[in-house]
Amino acid sequence: MKQDIGVGLIGLGVVGGGVARALLERRDYFARQVGAPLVVRRAAVRDLRKPRTVDLPPGVLTDDVVSVLEDPAIDVVVEVVGGEEPAGSFIRAALKAGKHVVTANKELIAKQGPELLADAHSRGLDIMFEASVGGGIPLIAPLRRDLLANRITSIRAIINGTTNYILTSMASGGAAYGSALAAAQELGYAEPDPTNDVEGYDAAYKLAIMATLGFRTRVRPEQVRVEGITALAARDFRYASELGYTIKLLAIAERNDGGIVARVAPVFLPQSEPLAKVDGVYNAVQIVGDLTGTVLFQGRGAGADPTSSAVVADLLDLAHSIVLGARERKYWGPEGETPVLGLDAVETRYYVRVTVSDQPGVLAQIARTLGEHGVSIAAVSQKEADADEKTAELVVMTHRAREGAMQAALREIAALDVVAQVSAFLRVEG
Ligand code: NDP
Ligand code: HSE
Repeated sequence: MKQDIGVGLIGLGVVGGGVARALLERRDYFARQVGAPLVVRRAAVRDLRKPRTVDLPPGVLTDDVVSVLEDPAIDVVVEVVGGEEPAGSFIRAALKAGKHVVTANKELIAKQGPELLADAHSRGLDIMFEASVGGGIPLIAPLRRDLLANRITSIRAIINGTTNYILTSMASGGAAYGSALAAAQELGYAEPDPTNDVEGYDAAYKLAIMATLGFRTRVRPEQVRVEGITALAARDFRYASELGYTIKLLAIAERNDGGIVARVAPVFLPQSEPLAKVDGVYNAVQIVGDLTGTVLFQGRGAGADPTSSAVVADLLDLAHSIVLGARERKYWGPEGETPVLGLDAVETRYYVRVTVSDQPGVLAQIARTLGEHGVSIAAVSQKEADADEKTAELVVMTHRAREGAMQAALREIAALDVVAQVSAFLRVEG
C-alpha cells in the first residue's frame, strides 16, 4: 500500500497557484477520497523572486525543472506552464521517468495529444487534460466516457473566457476593447500571450481537442478556420442588438456526409438562443449525439479556482488508480481520418455591412450581384451616412446560402465603383 502520492508541479502561476492551494487546503479530504495523501514535493518556476499566491513548505519551490522530473518520490507531474515548448519536452521527460502527467495545456494537446497519449500508454502511464478545455466544466471526461455510445454530429461552443468577457463588456456596457482585455488579464483569464485568445487560436485548440475526441478522428488545429474578435466595431454590436442578435465568438465543429467542418469566428446569435445568454467568463458547450440529442455543459471557463478544480480531479483520478495498484490505464486514440473540409461547405445566413457612395442605384447593384450568385436578401437597411465623405452604410441580412457563393459575391461587391469597402462580414448562426 502506497503511503502517499508525490506530486510535482511545473508552473506556479494562475493555474499552478490554484492547484497548490487546493492540495494544501483540502489535503485531508483528498486523502480520504483517494486512500492516501497527495503531497506536493516540488514546484518549479522560472523566477524564484516573484511573489506567490500560495505558501509552500520550505524547500518545495525550485527553479530547477529537472529536480521535479528526476525526483523518484514524485508519481504525477502537473504541467501548468503552457505553450508547445518547453512544456512538451517536460512532459516527454516526465513520461520517460515513469511519471503520470496532468496538464492544462490546450495548445500542446491539440497539436500533439494523440502522439503523447500513445507514448504514455506504451509505458503503462496516462496523460490527463480535463483543464485544457472549458476551465472548470467537465468536458474531456464526458467526451471520453459518458458520450461514447453516441455518434456525435455537432459541437457548438463558447469556449474562450477572455473573449467572452470582452464581448460581453463591449455589448452590455459599451466598454472599449482595450480596457476589457486588460480587465480579463487582471482576472487571470487570458493566456500568457493574449493574442491566442483574441485571435481565436485558443478556442481553435480547444475545438480541435473536442472534435478529435467527439468525432474519434484527428482534427488538427491548423484545420480549424479561425477568425478573431479584433476587427469587430462598436457599431456591429449596436446593429446586432437592434436586429435581435448578440455577437459571440463561437467554435463550431459539424460532421456531415462529406466530412467535418471546424471553425471559430465571431457570429450573430439570436438573443433567444441559450448560447447567446452565456456571458462574462462563462463558457458553454452544446453537443449533439444521436442517442442523447442535445446536451449542454456550462460553467466558468477560466481562472484559478475553476481550472484547479479540473486539474485536481485528474490528479485524484490518477492517485486513486495508483493507490489501487492499477498497472494499466484506459487508452484513447483516434480511429481514422475523416476529411476536414473548408468553409465553402458551410451553409448559413450572413450579416454584411458595406460602406457605399450615398447615391441612387447603389442598393440595386449590390442586390443584383448577390442575386447572380444565388444569395437571397432577407432584410436591408441604410445606417449612418457621412455627409463629408458622401458615403452611407448598408446593412444586409441574407437568407441561407453557401459560403463559397457568398464570398464570390462579396469579392464582386468590393470591386464595384460605388462600394468603398465591405466593412463587416459575420455569419448568422442558430
Ligand atoms: P501563468 O503565466 O500564470 O503561469 C505559468 C507558470 O509557468 C509560471 O509560474 C511560470 O513561472 C512557469 N514557467 C514558465 N516557463 C517556465 C519554465 N521554462 N520553467 C519553469 N516554469 C516555467 O499561466 P497560467 O497559469 O494562466 O496558464 C498555465 C497553463 O494553463 C497554460 O497552458 C494555459 O493555457 C492553461 N490554462 C489556463 C487557464 C487560466 O484561466 N489562466 C485556464 C485553463 C487552462 P514564473 O511564475 O516564475 O514566471
Ligand atoms: N485563456 C483561456 C480563456 C483560459 O480565456 O478561456 C482558459 O482555457
